[in-house]
Amino acid sequence: MKVDQDKIVRVFYNIASNAADAMPTGGTLTVTTEDAGGMVKVDFKDTGTGMPEEVKRKIFEPFVTYGKKHGTGLGMAIVKKVMDDHKGKIEIETEMGKEQRSACCSRCRNYSSLWLPVLLRVSL
Ligand SMILES: Nc1ncnc2c1ncn2[C@@H]1O[C@H](COP(=O)(O)OP(=O)(O)OP(=O)(O)O)[C@@H](O)[C@H]1O
Ligand SMILES: [Mg+2]
Repeated sequence: MKVDQDKIVRVFYNIASNAADAMPTGGTLTVTTEDAGGMVKVDFKDTGTGMPEEVKRKIFEPFVTYGKKHGTGLGMAIVKKVMDDHKGKIEIETEMGKEQRSACCSRCRNYSSLWLPVLLRVSL
């Protein structure tokens, strides 16, 4: 699987700009990566507002926007499409949602995990 660099940059940008929008008075976005057995797992945790459960449920549908003056609601629909095209995976946890995982640090309000396939190039 070849990773489309521009599209993955767009994914990262869309998630990071949502985090920035959710932290209008400042906060922290923490991005970490880990080896997940043939995949790279990328976690984005922010200390913003979190989102209601009904927004989280529909977040990958186009034109779902909530609490923004100028949101088109396309950002996360694009993220999902790019992840599907790459045979990747995305999961979102949010503190305003019910099933917050213990893996989410106590200060984190929104937690997105991406799993991306890795292209391994070995040059000898
Ligand atoms: N990190 C986050 N914290 C809180 N709410 C979020 C977060 N990410 C997404 N959301 C919520 O999900 C909604 C949908 O996000 P999405 O990126 O698809 O659209 P948008 O940001 O509203 O518009 P666009 O990305 O097209 O400018 C947002 O309007 C926001 O309410
Ligand atoms: Mg957005």
